[in-house]
Amino acid sequence: MALQAASLLPHSISIRKNGKSNASLRETTFSGISTSNHPAGEFSNYLIRSKEFRRRELPLGAIRAQTATVDPAIDQTTTEGKKTARKGNVIITGASSGLGLATAKALAETGEWHVIMACRNFLKAERAAKSFGITKENYTVLHLDLASLDSVRQFVDNFHRLGRPLDVLVCNAAVYQPTAKEPSFTAEGFELSVGTNHLGHFLLARLLLDDMKQSDYQSKRLIIVGSITGNTNTLAGNVPPKANLGDLRGLAAGLAGLNSSSMIDGGEFDGAKAYKDSKVCNMLTMQEFHRRYHEETGIAFASLYPGCIATTGLFREHIPLFRLLFPPFQKYITKGYVSEEEAGKRLAQVASDPSLTKSGVYWSWNKNSASFENQLSKEASDAEKARRLWEISEKLVGLA
Ligand SMILES: NC(=O)c1ccc[n+]([C@@H]2O[C@H](COP(=O)([O-])OP(=O)(O)OC[C@H]3O[C@@H](n4cnc5c(N)ncnc54)[C@H](OP(=O)(O)O)[C@@H]3O)[C@@H](O)[C@H]2O)c1
Repeated sequence: MALQAASLLPHSISIRKNGKSNASLRETTFSGISTSNHPAGEFSNYLIRSKEFRRRELPLGAIRAQTATVDPAIDQTTTEGKKTARKGNVIITGASSGLGLATAKALAETGEWHVIMACRNFLKAERAAKSFGITKENYTVLHLDLASLDSVRQFVDNFHRLGRPLDVLVCNAAVYQPTAKEPSFTAEGFELSVGTNHLGHFLLARLLLDDMKQSDYQSKRLIIVGSITGNTNTLAGNVPPKANLGDLRGLAAGLAGLNSSSMIDGGEFDGAKAYKDSKVCNMLTMQEFHRRYHEETGIAFASLYPGCIATTGLFREHIPLFRLLFPPFQKYITKGYVSEEEAGKRLAQVASDPSLTKSGVYWSWNKNSASFENQLSKEASDAEKARRLWEISEKLVGLA
């Protein structure tokens, strides 16, 4: 089983039809790694260099003093009737491991955030929070299985019972099934990757939008984690199978895989492609949210590529040789590796840094670990496709 890899190329490369590329030298990326006997098992990787996380420039003293006294969920009002700063409330899906857990830790340890860890495995999430030293007053675990729309609705009800405002929502959880030969399905019968990564989050974000509208927090944000693998304007995004939503005929037919296709474009099932397609949906959804709601609500909608976090559970279903070689390959050969801790700080930055409030942006980090607004691929920035995806998705999740 040969390991194919890696040519050093700039990150902002655009692949043109004639095979030529135009490269800017803002960031460096490596091409993918793949196992030769399993084309669908290829996964791309990217060079990200580390740098210290820029901490929020907020009046920490004032916020800490506040959190020591009363319930952080409730706005404090001075005798003059002026609101004082309060702890932010952030929901992070998939906070039981990997990027979500690292982000939960990065936000919680500032003392300025209460993190609602929205996880399908309650005990795992509790243990993870404890082992990461997240202190009790800074987090709550709530059950959420994104592969069940009933569970999403139940989660929203349970969140409302907490009586907390919602200031930031981070849609982070994902499944990736690169070696699956057959599709598996969510409770409602949607192909699992798109059903979980896109449709579950779509319903969640739509149901929680009113809560965010009502929040009086100084900077409200809705973040949907994207990926370079869905962006075919990069070399990594050109590693087969490439993301392609086609004319959305499979999605419109319900992704049920019975008499219709389980793939968004109506094609044959491919687990790696289904994941990449779901990430395109995530990035399109963020932009459609921005177009529909940013002006009216002031909420900043954003997506990001956190870097190649080669050690996370995302690769758990990959073949053993890939899992063995992928992290050292990223660390020592491509140097494209980014640690879970560093990636968590990046996502925490998008959630909370006062300099990243712009809406409609897909954030990435350059070799100096400085954030920049990245270009999405043609498909991942197709406004008409985003509109149709929105309309079909709201029918599938029962909102229209
Ligand atoms: N790793 C990378 O190189 C990379 C690169 C670009 C983007 N990303 C993105 O980063 C995000 C986090 O991935 P990761 O690398 O941190 O992987 P991970 O460690 O596997 O984390 C995924 C999380 O999603 C949760 N999850 C899966 N299915 C769920 C469901 N049905 N309901 C609720 N939660 C569910 C998992 O819960 P359990 O703990 O119960 O399994 C886990 O907490 C994903 O959106 C991924 O696309 C990752």
